[in-house]
Amino acid sequence: MRPLRLYINVDHVATVRQARKTDEPDPLAAAREAEAAGADGITIHLREDRRHIQDRDAAAIAAGVATVCNLELAARDEIVSFACALQPYQVTLVPEQREEITTEGGLDLSQRDPNLRTAIRRLDEAGLHVSLFIDPDPAAIDAAKDLGVPAVELHTGRYSHRWREDDAALDELRRAAEHAAGMGLAVHAGHGLTYRNVQPVARIAAIEELNIGHSIVSRALFTGIGPAVAEMKRLLQEARR
Ligand code: PXP
Repeated sequence: MRPLRLYINVDHVATVRQARKTDEPDPLAAAREAEAAGADGITIHLREDRRHIQDRDAAAIAAGVATVCNLELAARDEIVSFACALQPYQVTLVPEQREEITTEGGLDLSQRDPNLRTAIRRLDEAGLHVSLFIDPDPAAIDAAKDLGVPAVELHTGRYSHRWREDDAALDELRRAAEHAAGMGLAVHAGHGLTYRNVQPVARIAAIEELNIGHSIVSRALFTGIGPAVAEMKRLLQEARR
């Protein structure tokens, strides 16, 4: 099986800093420790409300990581312009609502949102790899393919809520991943993945990248970032063996 890339989302390092609006902890320092422990990439979400990652963090991380930076953003002109200038390796377009605690669902591609098309075109013209964060739903995958993007990130939120009950959400994810890969899309996944629920997802061969944040940053409070990342990486490698 192909190796599975682990991208670490360091937003919540910035969440702790923003609680006091001081200069610690530093998300770039966390990113570097994550990389030293085996992270294949660093993910950040530059939200419109700037509740955690700030513009200066995005600039420091995009320039300072040794691996690659995956910048999550909403399809809004201001942030898209920022991303085009920043030149991260990858951008993942996500839906965003001000009141939500975290990204709640995938992009609704049935609306044929002209802002989304414009954002994809601008990011593509800027030379960035564009991925769309969507629900594990065949119609959304087909719509993503029509939009001409090279990659999708499948929302694992439903799986992370339901994995203890039955395999329905896992089966849905597997079918979606195979459908997307069969159409030539690179398949990423993430949201709500933890040390306990990650391995069944990691065994889906069609998935090539996982984006994980909250669970790893939570564990890092007790173990430090390096061991928290290394343990997640070990679980992925074990699942792919
Ligand atoms: N992927 C996307 C598109 C996200 O918005 C998030 C949350 O910021 C994640 C992955 C990571 O989710 P979690 O923090 O629950 O691991």
